[in-house]
This record gives sequence, C-alpha cells and structure tokens, in this order.
Amino acid sequence: MAKAKTQFICQNCGTVHTRWAGKCEGCGEWNTIVEEDPMGGIGSGPGKTPKKGRPVTLTSLSGEIEEAPRIPTGMSELDRATGGGFVRGSAVLIGGDPGIGKSTLLMQAAAALSRRGHRIVYVSGEEAVAQVRLRAQRLAAADTDVLLAAETNVEDILATISEGKRPDLIIIDSIQTLWSDTADSAPGTVTQVRTGVQAMIRFAKQTGATMVLVGHVTKDGQIAGPRVVEHMVDAVLYFEGDRGHHYRILRTVKNRFGPTDEIGVFEMSDKGLREVSNPSELFLGERNEKSPGAAVFAGMEGTRPVLVEVQALVAPTSLGTPRRAVVGWDSSRLAMILAVLEAHCGVKLGSHDVYLNIAGGYRISEPAADMAIASALVSSLAGLALPADCVYFGEVSLSGAVRPVSQTGQRLKEAEKLGFSTAFLPSASAELPKGTKGRWTEIESLPDLVARIAGSGNRFRQVEED
Ligand code: TYD
Ligand code: MG
Repeated sequence: MAKAKTQFICQNCGTVHTRWAGKCEGCGEWNTIVEEDPMGGIGSGPGKTPKKGRPVTLTSLSGEIEEAPRIPTGMSELDRATGGGFVRGSAVLIGGDPGIGKSTLLMQAAAALSRRGHRIVYVSGEEAVAQVRLRAQRLAAADTDVLLAAETNVEDILATISEGKRPDLIIIDSIQTLWSDTADSAPGTVTQVRTGVQAMIRFAKQTGATMVLVGHVTKDGQIAGPRVVEHMVDAVLYFEGDRGHHYRILRTVKNRFGPTDEIGVFEMSDKGLREVSNPSELFLGERNEKSPGAAVFAGMEGTRPVLVEVQALVAPTSLGTPRRAVVGWDSSRLAMILAVLEAHCGVKLGSHDVYLNIAGGYRISEPAADMAIASALVSSLAGLALPADCVYFGEVSLSGAVRPVSQTGQRLKEAEKLGFSTAFLPSASAELPKGTKGRWTEIESLPDLVARIAGSGNRFRQVEED
C-alpha cells in the first residue's frame, strides 16, 4: 500500500501546500503552515471503498417557500445583527479576538433564550464548569435553566446533545478546542477544527437545532482561525472592539438568511454587556467642540445612522518622510484625499505629519466619510475649529468632485435629532428631508469645501501662502 501522504495546511486561510514553506502563498502570513494528516477527518481515505449512491428527488424552483423559522433572543442588538433572531437548523459562527466578550455575549443570549422557554445547551471547552458558573452569577444568569457541559470531544458532545429532548440552541465555546477521534491531527489544527465543525453543522441540519460556534481570531497561526470554517456555516458574525474602550460591535459579514450590513452595539460593564440602542450618543460622548481638526461624520451602518467624530492632527514634520498614521479608517483612502487636496485645492501637506483617528475606536468603511476626513484635515492644518453644530458627508472623487451618497434623508434626520442644525453634503443629493429647520449646504467640489472652511477665518490663507 502506498505510504499515506501528509499535507501542509496554512492555519490561517486553509491553503494546502505540497511542502512546508515559511510564508503562505494564499494569505501572505508567515509561520502558519503546519503538517497535517488529511486521512480520516474529511472525506474518505484511499483505503475505504465509496458506498453506492442513492438517487435523490429532483424538484422545481417554484413552490411553497417557508419563512426561515427564527428564535429571537429579545436582545435587540443581537437580533438586529442576526437579522431577527437565530434561524433554526442553521450554524452561526461568532468570531473575535480572545477576551473581547464572546463568552459573555453568548451566556447572556443563552440566559435570555432560556427565560423564553427554550432548551439551551452551553458546551464550554475552554473553561471549567465552575468558571462558567461564576460568570453566569456575575451576569445574573445563574437562575436560568441553561444546561452546561465542559467537554471538547466531538463524539461525546454529539452523544450528549442527541440524548433526551432536542435542544433549541447549542453553543460550542470554542471550535478551536474541539477534537475528534476520526481525525489524526493535533487539536486546534485546520483538519480537527473542520472535522468538528462539520459534525456540528450536520447535527444542526439533521435535527433543526441552532448551532452557535465561537471562534477565536488567532494571530500567531499556531491554531486554526475562524476563517477556515467561514464557508461552511450559514452566518458569520464578528465581535469587535478596542481593548481601551468599553463598547463592542457585533458585525455581520455573512448571512444566508438576512442582511449583512447590520451591526449590533454593546457596552461592556461590570455586569456584562449592555445594549446601546443609540450608538451616536456613545460615539459623540467625549466631544471637545472647540478644538481644530475635529469633524462629525453622519454615517450609516446598514439601516441605522451613526454619527461619529473624525479627528485629524496635521503638524510640520521633523522627518525626511512625513508620517501618515490612521486608526479606524483605510490608509490608502487617506492617501487619496491628501493627493486630491494637494492637486486640486493647493493644500500642501508634503512636509506635514498627518494623524487621523476615528473617535472611540470605531471603524469606518464608508467612502461617504471622505468629506468629513477632508474637513478635519483642513481644519487642523488651518488651526480653525469647525462649527460645533455641523455634520459632514460625501464621497470625493479623484477629480475633486463631491459625489452624492445614499440615504441622505436618514443621515440628516439623525443629525437633527442630536442637535446638529447645519450640514455640508454633496450637491444634487436626492431625498432632502422636507419641513426641517436645518441649514444644508450643498458642496460641489473639494476646493469649494476648502474655500468655505477657510472663509470662516483668515489664518488658513497664510498657511497656504507659506
Ligand atoms: P469573555 O466573554 O471571557 O471573552 P472571550 O470569550 O471573547 O474570550 O470576556 C472577557 C472580558 O470581559 C474579561 O476581560 C472580563 C470582561 N468582563 C467584564 O468586563 N464584565 C463582565 O460582566 C464579564 C462577564 C466580563
Ligand atoms: Mg471565551
């Protein structure tokens, strides 16, 4: 018999290599390739004879559609991110950095569901029963009927949850601790994690129970990250946040049963996660209205408007190559705004360091933030504080034109609700809200914006002439 071949699998992205290498060609990560035995776990090994197939009934596209039956948790931020609750028979992956609060979130969700009469099983592979109980006490969840087990073996977990009444929801914390007898690799490797997750998904599909899988985002590549199972599950949510800040964001990146642009916002307190129904108030909480370099961006997260402060610091550099440091935004997008400011507005930043920060550790991915970023940069360079009651949004093109963005009405309504009475927005914006008292200034191009900001004082011109 031919010698069983081992494979070299990247623990970050799952790319299979024929030989070991320092760097994975699939994802560019270093030291993530581990030798694994692919036999047993996935598919059948060469020694086994495949069973004879059984034909399945083919059907048409038209016909009855059943609305995906959901189990809402009653935690509105979590339900918003999942698209209205956990779908029965589906597998959901919740990823995030270690210590961000995944176990806390899921214990709270388990308690809420249990109080609504659902049968919930919490399988902890990382913590002992006593530790989980301690957390449950802290979260005032100890009085609920959540069933707890500390187990990591896939076969034992399946035997446990198959016994008795079928659970409505099973939480596996975490997939990296799962190990199966059928796979020969070490626990935490891609083969083990995939084998375990596959078995859990199969259980969910067969029984109609919801499977919630926790996956740690790993940086060192020693254990497989959640990315290697993303394609197998029905929904992928990431729990993010900044260690230095209390709030956490649950972001949907894949959802076969709902929208993918929704976020749920939470705040970590000493009694667990608290839901934040109005994130704008949280992100604008620590505003210093009189300092130059701060502009409020009226953004959107899915269907919900979010106002957040953009902070810029532009200072003469003492280095040969000026520094560009960005937190919470795309650095190549910043480079683009700087280039447009330089080429079309005569704003020279070549001998200045530029620091850009989104307040509260929040992350913006919308191009609509361009105008707020440009305003903050110009304001800092000129040393002129922007009006405290003004919001900014609009996408900037390479030609310097300001392009309209979607959901203008909602952005302006949120701004007005929070006491902002003026806005700088793209010209030709549709759906301006009617009957409002706000003063909306339409901006055609970036030079127009720069002139208006500079027009509110005269120090800017001096800077430009230098
Ligand atoms: P945890 O849910 O264990 O994180 P994960 O499962 O993602 O690794 O949460 C870890 C952090 O949350 C820990 O540093 C303590 C903090 N925490 C609170 O601040 N308040 C609480 O009520 C709880 C339970 C945890
Ligand atoms: Mg945990």
